[in-house]
Amino acid sequence: MSSRTVSAHHGADREQWSGQFGFVLAAIGSAVGLGNIWRFPGVAYENGGGAFLIPYLVALLTAGIPILLLDYSIGHRFRGSAPTSFRRMSRPAEGLGWFQVGVSLVITLYYTAVIAWATSFTVFAATQAWGDDPEGFFFGDFLQVADAPGVGLDVVPGVLIPLVLIWLVTIAILALGVQKGVERANVVFIPTLVVMFAAIVVRAVTLDGAADGLNAFFTPDWGALTDPGVWIAAYGQIFFSLSIAFGIMITYSSYLRRRANLTSTGLVVGFGNSSFELLAGIGVFSALGFIAFEQGVAVSELETIQGVGLAFVAFPQILSLMPGGPVFGVLFFASLTLAGLTSLLSILQVVSAAFQEKFGWSPRQAALLIGGAVAVVSIVLFSTTTALYVLDVTDKYINEVGVVGSAVIMTLVVGLALRRLRELQTHLNARPGVHVGGWWRVLVGLGVPLVLGYIFVTGVRSLLGEPYEGYPWGFLTTIGWGAVGLAVLVAIVMTVVPWRHDVDTFVPHELPPRELWGSRWSRVPARPGEPVQGTRPTHPEEGLR
Ligand code: ALA
Repeated sequence: MSSRTVSAHHGADREQWSGQFGFVLAAIGSAVGLGNIWRFPGVAYENGGGAFLIPYLVALLTAGIPILLLDYSIGHRFRGSAPTSFRRMSRPAEGLGWFQVGVSLVITLYYTAVIAWATSFTVFAATQAWGDDPEGFFFGDFLQVADAPGVGLDVVPGVLIPLVLIWLVTIAILALGVQKGVERANVVFIPTLVVMFAAIVVRAVTLDGAADGLNAFFTPDWGALTDPGVWIAAYGQIFFSLSIAFGIMITYSSYLRRRANLTSTGLVVGFGNSSFELLAGIGVFSALGFIAFEQGVAVSELETIQGVGLAFVAFPQILSLMPGGPVFGVLFFASLTLAGLTSLLSILQVVSAAFQEKFGWSPRQAALLIGGAVAVVSIVLFSTTTALYVLDVTDKYINEVGVVGSAVIMTLVVGLALRRLRELQTHLNARPGVHVGGWWRVLVGLGVPLVLGYIFVTGVRSLLGEPYEGYPWGFLTTIGWGAVGLAVLVAIVMTVVPWRHDVDTFVPHELPPRELWGSRWSRVPARPGEPVQGTRPTHPEEGLR
């Protein structure tokens, strides 16, 4: 076999992270995003406060980490983007990969808009441009929100400019490739984010009234545990927050070298993300405690505690009142921008990698062509006066139907239809790291499809039953179901389009089970009776990338 054929078989000429550390930073960069900083605190508060942490942790352990490991094992074993990996597992499964690409594509459209707002607010925070009316400033002066939902073409220049800027930065980073672009950006942005955010949290917990805020956050409402809606919210939060089941971790793990540690890395990423999320909850609720203290009301009486309102209305209110507000305001919105940007890179990489592989494009070609096309649609839809309505509905439908649906289908296809879980478990266990037991197959093959299937059906029924947030049905159908339809369309069209090169000549790279490795710790001889060799781990793949 020629070396070229060998490399095609094993996918060895693929781009790679510089090492395990680069991958972990990029994976944490993907997971820690807008979902952690403004979504989690509000969701936790609405769903039982401290008691929410129980379903949240259960969801992390029973679905979050198991699906994260499923994504890792698929991407790493089949060394490709989502469509390539699923096709290599079984040809008819390619469409599932493209559906995940479609879901990611839709998310990038609006995710960029929220990052653009955060970028503008980083500048506004320096002068507290919102004056004494943050709500009027955000919805009126800044977004210039139209009176009624719809899809208008009245462009708001103050939103258009940062949106174009964020797209240019994102496309430029992606064009540099995985190691020189995505990895380097994460190596700079993630430590910066952690330092800035830690400074904000330390400041927040030392504000007057912080204890009241923390009490509101951590005081359990045990009754909430009997409400299925609370469990649905916990699983939904874990999926969005961990960036699982929409192709990201499949794509990212495909750039890891062949004997990389997958399982311990998964645990670091999973628990690292949740730690950041709890830190965000502590910071945000301390700050809410402060504003309640200043206004002489209880934390529960504060209004805009959730979503867009929390970050762009409640926070400016707090910043106006607190000592050092301009400095902490700049830090907060810069953190939001960086957290969002590193997640956006990963979501767009799902789309870029898939097109690179289908058409044989370089990272630069894919970034310019695909990034450029997606950027135009995003800019047209989200720089206008109707952006907020379109964003709200797209986010709701693509998460509850697209992401959750993708997770259900993925576990059913891989676990039940193709019966590949044992093979993937062996793949995980043939690498260094925590050993994955049979519990993993039970959770991924049975537990997750059952729980998520229930969540999916309940979510779809509620979307069909009453109009979300009272929006007109026509708008919900066009935008909400339209977003889901777009992901399905991508799946159908791109599966039918022929590949420009041979993707199917591929043999997964096998390693012997770990019992057969020598180790400096256990000092197991290479073969029974032989003397112990060397003083370092003698993994059979030593020396290979
Ligand atoms: N995981 C990313 C977030 O939390 C998408 O925002």
